[in-house]
Amino acid sequence: MGNSAAGMRQHTADVVHLPQTNVVKIQIRELQKRFALGSRRVDAIDNMDLDIRDGEFFCIVGPSGCGKSTLLRIIAGLETKSAGTIQLLRNDPSKPLNNMVFQEQSIFPWMNVRDNVAFGLKARGIKKDERYARVEPFIRKVGLEAFAEAYPHQLSGGMKQRVSIARAFANDPEILLMDEPFAALDEQTKFILQQELVRIWEETRKTVIYVTHSIDEAINLGDRIMIMSARPGRIKEIVDVSAHFPRPRKVEELKSTPAFGDLFGHIWSNLKHEFGTVKGDAR
Ligand SMILES: Nc1ncnc2c1ncn2[C@@H]1O[C@H](COP(=O)(O)OP(=O)(O)OP(=O)(O)O)[C@@H](O)[C@H]1O
Ligand SMILES: [Mg+2]
Repeated sequence: MGNSAAGMRQHTADVVHLPQTNVVKIQIRELQKRFALGSRRVDAIDNMDLDIRDGEFFCIVGPSGCGKSTLLRIIAGLETKSAGTIQLLRNDPSKPLNNMVFQEQSIFPWMNVRDNVAFGLKARGIKKDERYARVEPFIRKVGLEAFAEAYPHQLSGGMKQRVSIARAFANDPEILLMDEPFAALDEQTKFILQQELVRIWEETRKTVIYVTHSIDEAINLGDRIMIMSARPGRIKEIVDVSAHFPRPRKVEELKSTPAFGDLFGHIWSNLKHEFGTVKGDAR
């Protein structure tokens, strides 16, 4: 699979230092990812060309196994690519380039909420007083101010995901990669966290790539939605949500608009053909 540390260094994205005026943040050309699975090969991503803009909230939907997580992991430098190029355009070398929020809970059970949120800052050598000062607003933004001293086992699932989100924003990366961060949550909690995420994102305007299985969620959150085909993952269509729903958005009002239903219908009619159509891999 070529996943060694040395292999990763050779194959992960090229980081280019460009001035802030540059509009494209992530430029992907002819990207391919092929996994070896025993004697078989699995084509996960096939010939993908994509530009993601600086400050954009970019959603990805597609059937299970179409390569969404693989794409995020390649952008994050956690996975190698087989061919093609990825350029991440860096605005501020003093900030971490990217930060991943995973579907499964990824906070440390032995740290309280404050220390979990401050983890990235600590790893960057920022002193305790300063990192606590910097995380406080984010703990507040996700509504956990009364739980700053609590440990993960004292929190609900939704509260733990809030900690992950606060940590990602407090770490202040240039690119935020979110892989179904709310998938395990109930509808109400998910909805509340979507609203919080939209609010924090509107304040910070980070480049976000957000993978979800939920068309609703993609419309609520995204500027654009990329619909991927079944494996090997290709771009089927990129839907411009911002043309229909300008910012700032009130997530709770979008759903009752006719435009929401139209957009949902359009995306679903495109996506539904992809279920049960995984193509055979070459052997
Ligand atoms: N480490 C690996 N080794 C071999 N095959 C892999 C590996 N990681 C992923 N794959 C394969 O690559 C394909 C894409 O996987 P990926 O996890 O990117 O899908 P996904 O779109 O995120 O799916 P889901 O929506 O279910 O999370 C799948 O067929 C999977 O089996
Ligand atoms: Mg996945």
